[in-house]
Amino acid sequence: MYHLLPASLIGLLFCGVSGFELVSKPTKLDINASSFIENVPTFFDLSDLHLVKVEHAFDSYWAGGIVRTTSNDNYLLMAHAAVYGNVTTYRGGILSLDDPLGYHPKYYQAVNTFTHNNGTVEPFHLTIPGNVFDMELIGPANEWFPRLKITSRVPETKFNIAIDMDKAGPPVLNAGLGSWLWVGEPQHQVSVPRGRLSGTFTVNDTLFTIDPSQSLGWYDRQWGPTLAPAFTWLGLYLTSSNTSHEEIYASIWNWEDDVNGNKSFATIQRPSGINTIVPLADFTVTDSFQSPVSNKTYSLDHRIRLADGTLLHIKPVRRDQEFVMQGFDNPFYSGAVEVTGNQYTGYGYIDILPGGGSF
Ligand SMILES: *[C@@H]1O[C@H](CO)[C@@H](O)[C@H](O)[C@H]1NC(C)=O
Ligand SMILES: *[C@@H]1O[C@H](CO)[C@@H](O)[C@H](O)[C@H]1NC(C)=O
Ligand SMILES: *[C@@H]1O[C@H](CO)[C@@H](O)[C@H](O)[C@H]1NC(C)=O
Ligand SMILES: *[C@@H]1O[C@H](CO)[C@@H](O)[C@H](O)[C@H]1NC(C)=O
Ligand SMILES: *[C@@H]1O[C@H](CO)[C@@H](O)[C@H](O)[C@H]1NC(C)=O
Ligand SMILES: *[C@@H]1O[C@H](CO)[C@@H](O)[C@H](O)[C@H]1NC(C)=O
Ligand SMILES: *[C@@H]1O[C@H](CO)[C@@H](O)[C@H](O)[C@H]1NC(C)=O
Repeated sequence: MYHLLPASLIGLLFCGVSGFELVSKPTKLDINASSFIENVPTFFDLSDLHLVKVEHAFDSYWAGGIVRTTSNDNYLLMAHAAVYGNVTTYRGGILSLDDPLGYHPKYYQAVNTFTHNNGTVEPFHLTIPGNVFDMELIGPANEWFPRLKITSRVPETKFNIAIDMDKAGPPVLNAGLGSWLWVGEPQHQVSVPRGRLSGTFTVNDTLFTIDPSQSLGWYDRQWGPTLAPAFTWLGLYLTSSNTSHEEIYASIWNWEDDVNGNKSFATIQRPSGINTIVPLADFTVTDSFQSPVSNKTYSLDHRIRLADGTLLHIKPVRRDQEFVMQGFDNPFYSGAVEVTGNQYTGYGYIDILPGGGSF
């Protein structure tokens, strides 16, 4: 199956769970990520975007890769670090998109001590003790979107990747300016859906090299003093089903909120940077997965209706994409989804924090 897309877009399409088709096209964007964010009145500054700070309380550095290798294999890569009080967690995962029901190496660890810069102007650099994981922003401290370098050395998930964001186009400032109210306090999130992804990763003993021209890196930075007790987040690449084949990005939230009331909304962005905030008119779950490991229940099959009539049917490429840490009560679901609907088809990422945890 081959899809022709307009020259200005990169399109990646899931074609069922077994055939993964990816088409790469040159891009033309007049505005870079830095000049975009510098010109809007955000409620945060560059150091908030980069650094772990005590006043943030919660800091999340999330990276996802939709990868085509130089040997034409398709993979999902996940790397996530979160700092919450004195606990830092790290997750890494590798999933074959050609065989998503097969082998799925995952790694999840929490540590109580770590080294990070604490509100200084140094570039961000987080190292998990034992040298198993390393995440670093490389570039001038006055650059909003330097290069993100991530190295994971655990046997399950070995990779050495970088996301270059300077030419990624406008970042998605969630909720318009990258800030909104959740659980009584401002939460902040900046997403870069189309970073240039490069590097290598290892599955069993085979080393794969990422083809940057046919791969996409999504960098997501989130922080804030409060954490919802349960949420679902979707980061989607959507392509219009009509002849325009327009590609948009969607960052969709649904969370439980005892303070301000349960909420759900989508931030839809076009590559031009034009950004639309839409409430969800419906967020229906039609399937769920109960983990035999953690006994948590995750909502899997979502039927979402945006207030403008857009319908999105979102299905995971595999049911079990849960990360569980031994002896730690905060399992998490993070993986890949496919999207169909009345106006768009696409694919992307899902994160679920199930209720009842003690993060
Ligand atoms: C981490 O913080 C918690 C709660 O503030 C405290 O009980 C615990 O002793 C701290 N652990 C370390 C290793 O500092
Ligand atoms: C960060 O700085 C704050 C305030 O200066 C201090 O209380 C805290 O212990 C520091 N944390 C780390 C991990 O260095
Ligand atoms: C982004 O664009 C601005 C304005 O055109 C330019 O000054 C800046 O050097 C660019 N930054 C990068 C990282 O390319
Ligand atoms: C990798 O090794 C695991 C464990 O030995 C095995 O179950 C799996 O099939 C292998 N995966 C691949 C892609 O070779
Ligand atoms: C194609 O669909 C998009 C998204 O629904 C819509 O904005 C656009 O107007 C449509 N274009 C055409 C040519 O029908
Ligand atoms: C918020 O969602 C939770 C979980 O679905 C539910 O138990 C609770 O009743 C909801 N709260 C309100 C005010 O609707
Ligand atoms: C697993 O969760 C279900 C509810 O979802 C509960 O009824 C059951 O007792 C739990 N089992 C264990 C072993 O905790």
